[in-house]
Amino acid sequence: MNILAVESSCDETAVAIVRDGREVLTDCIASQVELHRIYGGVVPEIASRKHIEAIYGLADQALEQAKLTRADIDAVAVTYAPGLIGAVLVGVNFAKAAALALGKPLIPVHHIRGHIAANYIAYPDLKPPFLCLVVSGGHTMIIEVTDYTEMRILGTTLDDAAGECFDKVARVLGMPYPGGAALDKAARGADDTKYALPRSKPGENPYNMSFSGLKTAALNLIHHAEQVGEELDIPALCASFSAAVSDTLVPRVVQAIQETGHKKIAVAGGVAANSRIRADIMAAADKLGATVYMPPLSLCGDNGAMIGAQAYYEYLAGNVADMSLNAYATKSILGEAL
Ligand code: KG4
Ligand code: ZN
Repeated sequence: MNILAVESSCDETAVAIVRDGREVLTDCIASQVELHRIYGGVVPEIASRKHIEAIYGLADQALEQAKLTRADIDAVAVTYAPGLIGAVLVGVNFAKAAALALGKPLIPVHHIRGHIAANYIAYPDLKPPFLCLVVSGGHTMIIEVTDYTEMRILGTTLDDAAGECFDKVARVLGMPYPGGAALDKAARGADDTKYALPRSKPGENPYNMSFSGLKTAALNLIHHAEQVGEELDIPALCASFSAAVSDTLVPRVVQAIQETGHKKIAVAGGVAANSRIRADIMAAADKLGATVYMPPLSLCGDNGAMIGAQAYYEYLAGNVADMSLNAYATKSILGEAL
C-alpha cells in the first residue's frame, strides 16, 4: 500500500511516499528554518504561507522521485494535530483535496505518533509493545506503546518541553534558531560538571518531569554572569545543561523499564538527536539488558516519512477520516481533546 503522507505542523513542509508502513520510497522536505531564523523563532503566519507555496510542488516532486503516478497512490495521510493551527490546516486541506480528487482514503495522523513511527522505518523488525521516550520541541513524554495505535502515557513534562528549553538557552547564548543542535555541538567533550544546574525531583507521579526550573536556573546564571562581567565557559555550560536535561529524562526511563518489564525502549522526536541523551540512554539500557531504538538523525526531526509509516497502522486499525476532518492545535496522543 503506497501512502502519500503530508506534514506541515511547524516549519517544515514535507511530503513522503511510504509503502506498507516501512519502506520509504521518497521523503521530500522544504525547510523554512532559514527564514524563521531571522526572527529567532517560528512566525506562524509566515509558516502557513510558506507551506501553501511549497506543498503542491513538493507532492509532484515526491511522485516524480518515487517514479510513481497519482494512480499508484492508495491513500493520503496527514498530520492533523498538534501544531501551529494555520500550518496544520494547510496540510489537512491539501490532503483532503488530494484524497477527494484521487478517490482514496484519508488517514489522519497525530504528529507525535508519527515521531514514534520513525522507529518503524529505521528498524523494520521493531513491533509493539515497547516503551518510548518522546522528546521534541513541544512534547516530552514517556509512553508505553502497547500496539501500533494503542498507547498509555506514563509521564509527561508538567511545564516546558525539553526542546523548548534547549532552544531558549541556546538563544540566550546567541546561537541561531533552532538552537538545540548547536548547543549539543558546543557541549561535545566539555566539562559537564562545571556548572551546577537543578534536576527535577520525582513528584506524585514519578514519571512526570519539569524543565522550567532548569531553564530558569540556566538563564539566571547567564544573565548574572553578564551583569558582573564574568566570562562563561560556554562549552562547559552547554555540557552541564545537556547533562541536567538527560539526568531528568534517563532515570525516569530506567524506572519505566524496571517497573513495566519492557525490554525495548525507543526514543523519538527532534531532541532524540541529542548526543548526550542518546549516549546516556544507551548506557542505561545496556545495564538493564534492554535494547534501544533510535531513528537516524535524519528521521528525528519533522518529516513526512514518519507520518506515512504511522498512517499505515492507523489505516489497518480503521482510523480513516472523511471530508469533515479538522486540524487541531492541541490534541492528546490518545486522540482526546485537551
Ligand atoms: O520534533 P521536532 O523536529 O519538532 C517538534 O515536533 O517540536 O523537534 C524540534 C526540536 C527543537 O527544539 C530543536 O532544537 C531540537 O528538537 N533539537 C535538538 C537537537 N536537534 C534538534 N535538541 C537538542 N540536541 C539536538 N541535537
Ligand atoms: Zn515534531
